[in-house]
Amino acid sequence: IHPSSAEASAAVAAEIAQLIRTKRAAGGNAVLGLATGSTPTGVYDELIRLHREEGLSFKGVKTFNLDEYVPMAPDALQSYRRFMDEHLFDHVDFDEGDTHVPDGLLPVEDTAAGCARYEEQIQEAGGLDLQLLGIGRTGHIGFNEPGSGKDSRTRLIWLDRLTRADAASDFFGAENVPRRAITMGVGTIMEAKRIVLMAWGEGKAPVVAAAVEGPETPAVAASYLQTHPNATFVLDEAASAGLT
Ligand code: F6R
Repeated sequence: IHPSSAEASAAVAAEIAQLIRTKRAAGGNAVLGLATGSTPTGVYDELIRLHREEGLSFKGVKTFNLDEYVPMAPDALQSYRRFMDEHLFDHVDFDEGDTHVPDGLLPVEDTAAGCARYEEQIQEAGGLDLQLLGIGRTGHIGFNEPGSGKDSRTRLIWLDRLTRADAASDFFGAENVPRRAITMGVGTIMEAKRIVLMAWGEGKAPVVAAAVEGPETPAVAASYLQTHPNATFVLDEAASAGLT
């Protein structure tokens, strides 16, 4: 629990920078699982600052984002590919082709194969060293809505009504929010060697308390993280208010 989201974000960015440098020193490359939304933007801002001011390089680092709306063109205003370009990728020095976001334009009949390929690409890169997560008010991680199984893999899902309501302002009305998305599964996320879930603000306090102190349940996908060997919830004071 940090006094503010700014301090918490700086601590998470420092851990990511350390991971990148340690892996490189050992002759390898870090593999990062990334999230979109309002929560991780402070981490991305700090990573850009570390790149510009402290020489942190992303060359060789590979990234895999959690999710993307379906249908969604990569250059559309609300696309998660565009979000990542604008908030991180365009400002640092990733090698071409090393950043991955699920394809929101895959025809539905091809999504199973596309999702299987995404999983293969993660494995070929060596598996996720660190997965960054936010948490939705439904308890989702990625877009693993209530009912998602612990062993679920990357797949096409239906978004929860509450998730679509929370996205309404981005789409100028709830009716414009896509009904489906591709998301890494809970099982995909749980295979990351290290997991950092971040949450800011009082609006997240009830779901954070349910995920951390409630039972492990498919009703709150983030509760599955209780059994991960190296997962940390990084909170500001407000998001921690429901914890006993
Ligand atoms: C985003 C994602 C989602 C968000 C969650 C919280 O890639 O997978 O699980 O992390 O919906 O969103 P914000 O951060 O906007 O509150």
